[in-house]
Amino acid sequence: MNMQALLGQDRDHWIHPVASWRDHEERGATILRSGKGCYLTDIEDNVLLDGFSGLWCVNVGYGQDSVVAAASEQMAKLPYATGYFSYASEPAIELAAKLGARAPGDLSHVYFTLGGSDAVDGVVRFIRYYYNITGQPTKKHMIALERGYHGSSSIGSGLTGLPAFHAGFDVPTPMQHHISCPYAYRSDAVDDAALIAASVAELTAKVNELGADNVAAFFAEPVVGSGGVIVPPKGWLTAMQNACRALGILFVVDEVITGFGRTGPLFACEHEGLTPDFMTVAKGLTAGYAPMGALFMSDRIYRAMRDATPSGVAIGHGQTYSGHPVSAAVGLEVLRLYEEGGLLANGQVAGTHFAKGLGGLLDHPLVGDVRSQGLLAGVELVTNKAGKTRPAPTLDLPRHLAAIGYRNGLIFRAFGDGIVGFAPPLCITNDEVDLLLERFRKSLDDLLNIKEIRNAVG
Ligand SMILES: Cc1ncc(COP(=O)(O)O)c(C=O)c1O
Repeated sequence: MNMQALLGQDRDHWIHPVASWRDHEERGATILRSGKGCYLTDIEDNVLLDGFSGLWCVNVGYGQDSVVAAASEQMAKLPYATGYFSYASEPAIELAAKLGARAPGDLSHVYFTLGGSDAVDGVVRFIRYYYNITGQPTKKHMIALERGYHGSSSIGSGLTGLPAFHAGFDVPTPMQHHISCPYAYRSDAVDDAALIAASVAELTAKVNELGADNVAAFFAEPVVGSGGVIVPPKGWLTAMQNACRALGILFVVDEVITGFGRTGPLFACEHEGLTPDFMTVAKGLTAGYAPMGALFMSDRIYRAMRDATPSGVAIGHGQTYSGHPVSAAVGLEVLRLYEEGGLLANGQVAGTHFAKGLGGLLDHPLVGDVRSQGLLAGVELVTNKAGKTRPAPTLDLPRHLAAIGYRNGLIFRAFGDGIVGFAPPLCITNDEVDLLLERFRKSLDDLLNIKEIRNAVG
């Protein structure tokens, strides 16, 4: 089918995720055709360096033949097996065991989902069940971070702290609350210790206001991703875990973006030796080659739920595709590539090189802040560095930047408030990191060729 016909059919039929439907119809789709390593080729044969791994997910890069072989072999052998009625498949069991063995502390029990939103949603359901079945039925309120993202399920979207996911959707519910994001660049805190203390104080105040007997859990990402790649100070996660323990509420770490080498180690919890009560993953679990997410449950909670539920009574949470054998086979091969294939190690080397290069961007007139952990980075653009002034919405800077970047052969995420997100594949070489930064700097320079943007900088 030719490109114009495809664009027409896309406009007429495909409802795209998190899109302005009007803008999308006007703009039309950018149709991608193939990928290899860190590069994508679109339908017009433009070759692009993918600085965002699709949607922070293709951690192993495109065109990994061994992953394709694992999927096709599993499809030919057994394309589907349910996990219901005590059925199972070899790859799903093997993947659960490998994940359980690698997860922090006693997070040894794995429930498979189709992606991140339903992993968060599953955690919410299991937490409710856990408190109800263990005689603490008043513990219902849940707290998360402003700017946090926990998916767009009907419940998780209320834990998400981004207004676009709330407006018109009747969330957050009265049981869902948010506290400030530990956002060093835009905080009044004098140093990291003060920022950490402020977060602990705010969580404590919120729990006290609601009554600890009414609060179930606190949810956080180790690095706030979709909210603008905000890297909390070192020690923040540990302090929040300690606060949760002291307050008698559960601590849920959402590693949907940060898991599987994105920040360096397999899980970002490892940076601080943390063991939350629940942990969610998706994206890098199968590196986008097949849909799959998972939630990890601590042994303590698993046993409490198992022991409190009588034999013959099902714990009623499930999906047809939970533990899908093809996705599990993909997950196993992807995990092998991270470990034996050296991708985790490569990502760590490239991440160090990336951090250095990002620091070099700070001399650009539009760059107010750079922050990164491993191969997850944010560049915050401002029109006045001293005032940390966000680009005025009338400048339409993110849209211009995304289009310019694409013309310069680079894909990244241009968030609405002038923050740019990067998450290149873990197979990226140091030379490709340099190319990414070179293309990005050129794109920033090109932005200044737009008169309104140039005039706004001061
Ligand atoms: C931290 C986090 N949690 C949950 C989700 C939702 O995952 P999914 O889009 O696979 O439903 C995302 C997606 O970006 C995420 O970044």
